[in-house]
Amino acid sequence: MNLPRRLAALAGYVPHGSIVADIGTDHAFLPVYLVKSGVCPRVIATDVNPGPFAAAEKVVTTYHLQDKIDLRCGDGLRVLQPGEAQVLIVAGMGGGTIRDILAVVPAMLNQIRRLILQPMVDAGDLRAWLVENGWLLADEMLVEENGRIYVVILAEPGTEQVRDPLLLELGPRLLEKRDPLLLVYLEEIIRRHQHVLSELARSSSTGARRKVRELEVKLARTENIYNYQGRR
Ligand SMILES: C[S@@+](CC[C@H](N)C(=O)[O-])C[C@H]1O[C@@H](n2cnc3c(N)ncnc32)[C@H](O)[C@@H]1O
Repeated sequence: MNLPRRLAALAGYVPHGSIVADIGTDHAFLPVYLVKSGVCPRVIATDVNPGPFAAAEKVVTTYHLQDKIDLRCGDGLRVLQPGEAQVLIVAGMGGGTIRDILAVVPAMLNQIRRLILQPMVDAGDLRAWLVENGWLLADEMLVEENGRIYVVILAEPGTEQVRDPLLLELGPRLLEKRDPLLLVYLEEIIRRHQHVLSELARSSSTGARRKVRELEVKLARTENIYNYQGRR
């Protein structure tokens, strides 16, 4: 089974022999790959919505993996028992949704050794929650698929040193290791800030002026980081 690049990046962070819970699995392609490739002896695959859950059931049945992939329909970590999995994957959702899934049942995270997360938006909010709640950003990577850049975060229990909100938004490990896609990623972020600033320029409300000042500071710092990374 050939995995798309984004899912392959997630699979690359799974330690050999570990029991994984893939929360919000949808089609269950990743659990099928992890079991079929021998990385995981067993995977728990969950989804809260009946449509994606049915899609997962169909794929798991097609591959005759019902005994190795434990499918559960339900909300986030509520369908897990403490200690059932060592690794959690939560991918393809907004950073806020991922944060809420992790935050809602704190006891469930006690025995988790690895979080493999792939927020579609708001990665900074998710990183901020992780570092405030005893998780170290062990590694991060950018993946390009069909013209879009995705952020993948590996978190492990520990103390993260970086607390600067802008660095947490951009990705401390992406910056330190100068991810191969970093400059393209920063260019995208800079363009997005410039676009928002041009939209805000049409409004003269006090709120808009405050947002402009905040975003101008953020944009200037991001451009400095981009220029520094460009020279490295
Ligand atoms: C866009 S899909 C991503 C599927 C897969 N994880 C991937 O990365 O390709 C998001 C999936 O998460 C599920 N989902 C959203 N919130 C959830 C929650 N609180 N608990 C479990 N599943 C959830 C949705 O039903 C949907 O199938």
